Amino acid sequence: MRVNKSLNNPYLPELATVQEIIQETANIRTLRISLDDKEKMSEFSFRPGQVGQLSVFGVGESTFVINSPPTRKDYLQFSIMRVGEVTQRIHQLNAGDQIGLRAPLGNGFQYEDMKGHDILFIGGGIGMAPLRTLLLYMIDNRRDYGDIMVLYGARSPKDLCYTYEFEEWKAGGVNLVLTIDSEFPGWKERVGFVPTVLSEESPSPHNCIAVVCGPPIMIKFVLFGLKELGFEDHQILTTLEKRMKCGIGVCGRCNTGSKYVCLDGPVFSYEQIRGMAQEL
Ligand SMILES: Cc1cc2nc3c(=O)[nH]c(=O)nc-3n(C[C@H](O)[C@H](O)[C@H](O)COP(=O)(O)OP(=O)(O)OC[C@H]3O[C@@H](n4cnc5c(N)ncnc54)[C@H](O)[C@@H]3O)c2cc1C
Ligand code: FES
Repeated sequence: MRVNKSLNNPYLPELATVQEIIQETANIRTLRISLDDKEKMSEFSFRPGQVGQLSVFGVGESTFVINSPPTRKDYLQFSIMRVGEVTQRIHQLNAGDQIGLRAPLGNGFQYEDMKGHDILFIGGGIGMAPLRTLLLYMIDNRRDYGDIMVLYGARSPKDLCYTYEFEEWKAGGVNLVLTIDSEFPGWKERVGFVPTVLSEESPSPHNCIAVVCGPPIMIKFVLFGLKELGFEDHQILTTLEKRMKCGIGVCGRCNTGSKYVCLDGPVFSYEQIRGMAQEL
């Protein structure tokens, strides 16, 4: 058993308070929270891609990626899609309410190794959340990275998250390509599924790292598309969403092949998970 021993009592959540809530879409809400212990909040460090277990007391806890970057420390941000009991209750929270947080968990992106490369982010729906963390980190350290392109798709304009900061992304030197699945009144950007728009844009694999997150069907066809464009397995990163419980390598719930998503992931290169494709 490989347990994450860096936490004192790994099951004990820190108390945190909801500072602000942003309604992103009909079923996705963003929570900005801060730890009640100010010292712990100012010392809190993590890597883009790492996750936290948010708990609603008396209900349960669930895993969400920390989607504010470590370069912006006023709050920790989580975007939550309402799917079941815990997420339903998180959606009922108001600013000022208290919740629990166990974080950071998982491995995160090796952003040091990505320095000097062009970066291609490919996100679908709520899958933009982990990409946002790394994207904002790179905007805050812009000189370390080459060209940055974001291909972000959703079913309709109403299903896109973070629309209020698209201008900031562009001002940070990001080539933002937005697409929706089908025509929508007033929509002036691209129309078509993400893999199709990827082929049309045809980004060069030369010195480029692709970071992909979205629904499994999108990931599957995006991977085909990237391979056709000439991307090698080690140039493709993704984050996996296997259900997690303990988050620290004890319960075996997140086991995938020989890997634990909570310890070895959720960030993996396609090279690492290629052989496990059947189980994903
Ligand atoms: C590493 C990681 C990062 C994640 N990041 C985010 C995030 O940033 N934002 C976000 O909204 N969600 C994220 N999730 C998914 C989130 O953890 C689940 O949606 C949540 O646990 C559902 O809890 P619930 O009690 O509301 O739903 P439940 O009642 O437990 O389940 C409701 C439905 O959702 C399905 N479901 C539950 N958990 C998962 C899961 N992990 N993967 C696929 N299907 C699931 C169930 O099969 C069921 O159909 C992440 C999951 C992981 C493992
Ligand atoms: S082993 Fe428990 S969530 Fe990974």
